[in-house]
Amino acid sequence: MKKLQAPRGTQDVLPPDGRRRLEILRIADDVLGHAGYEPAETPVFEDTEVFARGVGESTDIVQKEMFTFEDKAGRSLTLRPEATAGICRAYIEHGMHKLPQPVKVWYAGPFFRHEAPQAGRFRQFTQIDAEALGSDDPSLDAELILLFDEILERVGVGPRRLRLSSLGTRETRADYLEELKGFLRAREGELSEEVRARIDQNPLRAFDADHPGTQAVMKEAPLLIDRIAGDDAEHFSEVRALLDSAGLEYEIDPTLVRGLDYYTRTVFEVESERLGAQAALGGGGRYDGLIEELGGQPTPGVGWAAGVERMLLAVGEAEGEHEIDVFVAGTGRDAFLLVTRLRSSGFRAQMEQAGRSLKGQLKQADRLGARWTVILGDEIEVKDMNTGDQQRAGSVDDVLGMVGR
Ligand code: HAM
Repeated sequence: MKKLQAPRGTQDVLPPDGRRRLEILRIADDVLGHAGYEPAETPVFEDTEVFARGVGESTDIVQKEMFTFEDKAGRSLTLRPEATAGICRAYIEHGMHKLPQPVKVWYAGPFFRHEAPQAGRFRQFTQIDAEALGSDDPSLDAELILLFDEILERVGVGPRRLRLSSLGTRETRADYLEELKGFLRAREGELSEEVRARIDQNPLRAFDADHPGTQAVMKEAPLLIDRIAGDDAEHFSEVRALLDSAGLEYEIDPTLVRGLDYYTRTVFEVESERLGAQAALGGGGRYDGLIEELGGQPTPGVGWAAGVERMLLAVGEAEGEHEIDVFVAGTGRDAFLLVTRLRSSGFRAQMEQAGRSLKGQLKQADRLGARWTVILGDEIEVKDMNTGDQQRAGSVDDVLGMVGR
């Protein structure tokens, strides 16, 4: 018989990872909730056009990485590779421009990209995503970046780098790309063959080249950030001033390229210093043209998404901690009633449920990290698992008093 396995690039979440994930979501809810971001959800699959138009036809995501299928009526659907396009589709569909602006939402769930799996890169992964729609106020850009950093700090991902840049408007970017192509063509002879072949399709790649000749040329290349002018420049300097006033450290990286087409103005990415090739814990930016692109009124927006699996990798293995308060070494109705009473009094309690000997039960209590073990025999004994002290309890009521926190 064929051995059944989880599909390539997917993973099963098993204990204790399930709890660690839940803990990250609780932190996100707490941090984002304090700033008025409300939980929201959109479908796991959407009309393919949402992503084709939203994320952009020319991106790797749309060209190569989407799980696209037809439903029985022949409609083209796609498992969501990201969250922003779907939330913008929902904003338009539900007339959310009529609500007080900005509309602030956050959510978490599975996302799908058909990439080559490797450490930190999966075909199904989990993102936490936060978005503020309907205002271009720079305080939203800064607020979202700070909230993201606070979540990462509380999750305990350790040292990280925040890279920040501004892309200006689509027009600024288009003009800049023409300028860059002109510059690269003029220096063609010094470039690697690979970069030369892609001047027209993707001139920005030249900034990432390993080839020494190309690198030397790129040191003199024009930078988009130097072409940002007027309101865009003012917006960016306000975002920076707000981050500075909050004391958050960042690097301006004029070559920061994000893999999605919808960005305008602010873009950012956070990398973990603990992770290897797939080090981006998350990223995002402003997308002031996206809602219009999807058929709505011109509406600004800004947001980010973080990869939950990458956060867990950066945190590393958690320290062992008390999983339960009380283990009841005993079986039958007395034990059952005792755990039930303990639970309804707010204790995390478990009883013996696999037919172990007393010795085996004490070992199990240890494994579960129990703070107390109650041994039900002819007498009731309460063992303090920290000190090893054991005391007799007169009654079940006594037990409840003795295991008080
Ligand atoms: P993104 O940079 O494509 O942005 O993804 C955000 C994060 O999701 C990445 O930094 C990474 O942590 C995680 N991630 C992405 N792909 C994978 C994968 N194959 N395996 C594991 N983790 C992955 C976006 O998705 C934008 N929608 C962010 C955004 C929201 N921009 C504005 N609003």
